[in-house]
Amino acid sequence: MSAAEPAPAPLRADAYDLGSSLRLVPVDCHEAALGLALAAIDPWARVGRPAASLEAYWRRRDPTTFRFAILADGALAGAVAVRDPFMRGPYLELLAVLPAFQGRGIGRAVMDWLAGEGLKAGGTNLWLCVSDWNAPARAFYEGLGFEAVGPIPDLAVTGTTEIFLRRRLAAPGA
Ligand SMILES: CC(C)(COP(=O)(O)OP(=O)(O)OC[C@H]1O[C@@H](n2cnc3c(N)ncnc32)[C@H](O)[C@@H]1OP(=O)(O)O)[C@@H](O)C(=O)NCCC(=O)NCCS
Repeated sequence: MSAAEPAPAPLRADAYDLGSSLRLVPVDCHEAALGLALAAIDPWARVGRPAASLEAYWRRRDPTTFRFAILADGALAGAVAVRDPFMRGPYLELLAVLPAFQGRGIGRAVMDWLAGEGLKAGGTNLWLCVSDWNAPARAFYEGLGFEAVGPIPDLAVTGTTEIFLRRRLAAPGA
């Protein structure tokens, strides 16, 4: 980017450098690998979501959803998808850190990045849904300051309840 070019709007850059050899890059070229990898782990394995469906999710183009592969030292470590605008702050549609990379602070780094982008955009909240049975993810989000807003039955899968979560980033503006 030359000095004359304006910085991209929050969440709308092609790639982000999160430090510690962690990068968010366009999901292109990683869709098939992500489909296979996510189909093998919960929550997607538990509900039987096929790899092809997850691959198609990553291939989908939507002007209000920003999808990135997470690279750690150049290796595919996960992926993140964010919907913005949502409701006075962005909605985290999907976050996955692959098992070999979990527990190293990558999820936290991605959530810190998202909070920073949300604030830059003037947002005052982050939002997401987590399955009620996904105890590890619920512990992760609670540790990051998310609070349950309420249960949403039969949202993703009939018979399963999603918990709508909110993290306050700032006091509401005018
Ligand atoms: C949930 C997930 C995103 C966490 O990512 P991660 O990179 O492993 O998490 P981090 O290493 O950044 O951990 C950040 C904090 O969360 C806590 N945490 C992470 N996983 C946890 C778990 N399973 N149980 C309890 N706490 C956990 C860590 O202890 C850490 O706290 P600390 O910084 O105070 O030590 C990752 O495990 C994942 O992708 N899981 C599978 C997919 C999934 O469930 N996604 C969420 C769907 S809504």
